[in-house]
Amino acid sequence: MNTAANIVDSKHSEITDALSQYDLNEIKKFQKSATRPSLKHLPGDTGWPFIGHIYPFLTNLHGWLDKQYQAHGPVIQFNTPIISGVYLIGPEANKLVLQNQGKLFSNYLAWEPTFESLFDNNVLQRDFKDHKTQRKILQQAFKRNAIEGHIELMNPLLNQGIHQLKSGYTTQSLGFVKRLLLTTGAEVFMGVKSGPEADTLNQAFTDIVNATADPFRLKRVWFSPYAKGVKGNKVISRFILEKIKARRLTAGRDMFSHLCQLRDDNGDLISDELVKDHLIFLLFAAHDTTTSALSSILYTLASNPEWQQVLREEMLSLNKSNVTFDDLEKMEKTGYTFSEALRMYPALHSLPRYALRDFEFNGHTIPAHTNVLVSTLLTHYMPEYWSNPTTFDPMRFSPERAEDKKDFFQYIPFGGGSHKCLGLHFSQVQGKTFLFHLLKNYKITKDPKMRSYKYNNVPLTFPTDGLPLTFTKI
Ligand code: HEM
Repeated sequence: MNTAANIVDSKHSEITDALSQYDLNEIKKFQKSATRPSLKHLPGDTGWPFIGHIYPFLTNLHGWLDKQYQAHGPVIQFNTPIISGVYLIGPEANKLVLQNQGKLFSNYLAWEPTFESLFDNNVLQRDFKDHKTQRKILQQAFKRNAIEGHIELMNPLLNQGIHQLKSGYTTQSLGFVKRLLLTTGAEVFMGVKSGPEADTLNQAFTDIVNATADPFRLKRVWFSPYAKGVKGNKVISRFILEKIKARRLTAGRDMFSHLCQLRDDNGDLISDELVKDHLIFLLFAAHDTTTSALSSILYTLASNPEWQQVLREEMLSLNKSNVTFDDLEKMEKTGYTFSEALRMYPALHSLPRYALRDFEFNGHTIPAHTNVLVSTLLTHYMPEYWSNPTTFDPMRFSPERAEDKKDFFQYIPFGGGSHKCLGLHFSQVQGKTFLFHLLKNYKITKDPKMRSYKYNNVPLTFPTDGLPLTFTKI
């Protein structure tokens, strides 16, 4: 008998099959047939006419969400002209959504509107069996020997870049970090030394990143950020496809060379197209997230000079001019500081998923086709899990205190479940190498009038004032 429940089940299995096989035709058909569900029965409101909650999203997401959570509990509807849906708050919600048992949620349908024509076929927007296959392939590029090669490349690049800081002058730190990571990224990811070719690639890459935040998506309007991003993608794609043959024959230490050697389950090298798609996405996944993390770390260290000294001593005790993988492992307190900065200021404030069928959470029915967000930000400040959550306290991550270990899903700056960040280790290695060269040579200070970190969470967590800090040679 064709009961309503049977119909729901068969639709769910059709779309999960299509996603598992990465059958784009079937997925697009499903997207076209989807209707926006009514969320009126859920706690919260729809905000202002036309603009919904866009204002608090852009100006004070943390404050707004916290207020909503206090008033309504862990299920809160949200509404902006770009995306509307429901926030689910807390470790239990994070577990349900990120673990995704029963294939309730899709990554493709959540991320594709952001990535379309900019980062096509990337691993983050793959689902289920297809995602498992792609992730297994990519994991080979994050093994220890690959990361050791990246550290060797990073040491001189970060050291030289940091020595360009003018002692005693105020520097817009966000711009400085961005430029430094672009130059480093060109060599570490693409194998291109600084010069005109790296400049062209960096500009193309910057255009793609800017396009991800363009809400209008006007592909045909050539001067729109989105059109520039699509063009940027073509520039980088052409570069990769032109060089790939030669790269397959060399054994470089950069990420591009590593991807050229990746093999699938049959032992065959992955296609040129796949190398290109994965590489462009890795560049993206690494760049803004690490820029955000390093900016937050610089702010927290400028505000806590005693911690600069603690880390400096840890670094000086290594008695090295460059660091290796083993040295970085020994920099424990630097690791806790990195973790604490990402707790207080997670680069990604929320993680999106798309509900493939109705489900229940905390006594509420969330309908199929709802955009679901879990909040990294709010979870990281819940007093049930963190002592004095607004205080900068890196030692909460030490094994003696292990505050982050009360619940597996209370600390999610790198996500969780099957899509947990593949570059987690890479980013820590890069962050620690950066701090090693910086703190050994410079003291960081901020204007005493700067009492708090002025930042925005959308699209990623970045300081709104460019983070003016003074770096003074020791
Ligand atoms: C501090 C820096 C970083 C932060 C905070 C960060 C954060 C995240 C988060 C939250 C996710 C999961 C997104 C979701 O579930 O929707 C993710 C996924 C991912 N990240 Fe990172 N990331 C960082 C650096 C990097 C770096 C350096 C790389 C590569 C070199 C990288 C590669 C990836 C990839 C490939 C995925 C997708 C994994 C999958 O879908 O299986 N990330 N990252």
